[in-house]
Amino acid sequence: MKFFIDTANLAQIKEAHELGILDGVTTNPSLMAKEGIRGEEAITKHYKDICDLVDGDISAEVLSTDFATIIEEGKKLADIHPNIVVKVPMIKDGIKAIKWFTDNGIRTNCTLVFSAGQAILAAKAGAAYVSPFIGRIDDSGWDGVQLIEQIVQIFSIQGYKTEVLAASIRNPNHIIQCAAAGADICTCPLESILGLLKHPLTDIGLAKFLEDAKKM
Ligand code: G3P
Repeated sequence: MKFFIDTANLAQIKEAHELGILDGVTTNPSLMAKEGIRGEEAITKHYKDICDLVDGDISAEVLSTDFATIIEEGKKLADIHPNIVVKVPMIKDGIKAIKWFTDNGIRTNCTLVFSAGQAILAAKAGAAYVSPFIGRIDDSGWDGVQLIEQIVQIFSIQGYKTEVLAASIRNPNHIIQCAAAGADICTCPLESILGLLKHPLTDIGLAKFLEDAKKM
């Protein structure tokens, strides 16, 4: 399973990258706004900065919802860097746009996916990635990991090439469950990635080793 970081924060992207385990980055309008990125020029510069930091796929989301404007915006985003993947919402015009981008050699990530049916449509349109939001599904009383299992199974049976990118990760256990469910990628907040490091027995064991090392 590949690890992406789900943030537009350059310091966090750098920290995850320095761990040596980072394969890519996903952003969304909420994450960009959180970093105070406003206006086309600043947005383009920020994506360039992320591409300079990480040599992997970087999802950049369109802000429009009608076919013609999604295409116009997506082409500009894709021109920023070869690693940019255009993130398109799971709506009717979004699916049409994903098909257009696929036919024109631009890779896409279909976002805001909450059902297997939506994932099938995105795969049929040729999306490179489909992003089910598992945390938001859990938040509403359903089972996000179960959806990942179902989509992974369908894509395998049907031979779809679209990769399953588990998004809206809330904790380290989500990452473990997505790995077990066969997700191709998990896009995570930095704290969930760092949470994988933690075990109290590791801390106790290391403290004892360091104490005994003084006697060596
Ligand atoms: O980038 C999309 C997704 O990961 C958003 O997560 O935490 O806002 O549900 P969240």
